[in-house]
Amino acid sequence: MAETKPLLRALSGETLPTPPIWMMRQAGRYLPEYRATRAEAGDFLSLCYNSDLATEVTLQPIRRYGFDAAILFADILLIPDALGADLWFVTGEGPRLSTITTEEDFAKLKGADDIHDHLAPIYQTVSNLASALPEEVALIGFAGAPWTVATYMIAGRGTKDQGPAHALMQENTPLFEALIDRLTDSTIEYLSAQIRVGAECVKLFDSWAGSLKGEAFDKYALAPAKKIISEIKDRHPGVPVIAFPREAGDKYIGFAKETGANCVALDNSVSPEWAAENVQVDGCVQGNLASSHMVTGGQALVDETRHIVQTFKNGPHIFNLGHGITPDANPDNVQLMIDTVREG
Ligand code: CP3
Repeated sequence: MAETKPLLRALSGETLPTPPIWMMRQAGRYLPEYRATRAEAGDFLSLCYNSDLATEVTLQPIRRYGFDAAILFADILLIPDALGADLWFVTGEGPRLSTITTEEDFAKLKGADDIHDHLAPIYQTVSNLASALPEEVALIGFAGAPWTVATYMIAGRGTKDQGPAHALMQENTPLFEALIDRLTDSTIEYLSAQIRVGAECVKLFDSWAGSLKGEAFDKYALAPAKKIISEIKDRHPGVPVIAFPREAGDKYIGFAKETGANCVALDNSVSPEWAAENVQVDGCVQGNLASSHMVTGGQALVDETRHIVQTFKNGPHIFNLGHGITPDANPDNVQLMIDTVREG
């Protein structure tokens, strides 16, 4: 049967008159209904592991705005949690994990095949969503890319420059590479399980890819993405993959071709003109409105949204932000963005 969901049509390379639209972190703290469900769950991780409430928050932005895709509500750090690295969130500060910096720390981690019991509630959420979503809305599963997840596991927290991970890469390359390999294998297992229970597309978030330069980018961002994508394609032919090597700059060029990704998600440090010429030539692109427009709104939001739609209109394009929407965003500005994308 020919694909009818707009998001999947764009991912298969079709140029649509109106790009499908969804938004990174579309279920999040800028929405009052999210804050209410999060309060009911207690804390963020309890919300991730409560399938009923995670299903509910995933559906909230679909009900409010009618996006073309829903993204599973979970977090990239659930993989380290499932591998046995303790994870907790400090309110107002972000994630904390037990650190992996020695062979002894690494030896305590579980194997890539042993993550599924811990992640069963996440698979239940995917399965709930597969039956609950309106028929034109696509369901996106996701995972963090190995490098980005490793930066949190090595430092035990978020870092500005990923210094501890770069240091381990230099000082104990075999250990660093063993961690990247364990995460690569776990990510294949995790994404594959999401697809088996109903994810129609998966996205790989490499939020800190931009801090890898030259050969390090090729070894630790590009190569793991290539391995994950080729394995997913072998196991689940026809399921599209979106890759997000955030702030990759020139390394966005050829990334889809090299890795086999069906779409490259763009952050807003690259111009739509540059990306249309250098990246969209190879297939679908996603992005790339600055998320600050969701805070400031007004004519600038309308102008920049039109500019992005116009610039990408001659090829396959999924409209999105360049990074996640922030908690201080105004929900009315999201509606204005959607109306502007769909006005033509
Ligand atoms: O996009 C979506 O709506 C799907 C759900 C999703 C979340 N996190 C929910 C979340 C996705 C895809 C992620 C990915 C994620 N998580 C990334 C990669 C994408 C990116 O933003 O760069 C990263 C680096 C993380 C790790 C993470 N999770 C951090 C650093 C934090 C704390 C910072 C913050 O925004 O508070 C989180 C928490 C988090 N993940 C929230 C949400 C909705 C906020 C938690 C809350 O409700 O308090």
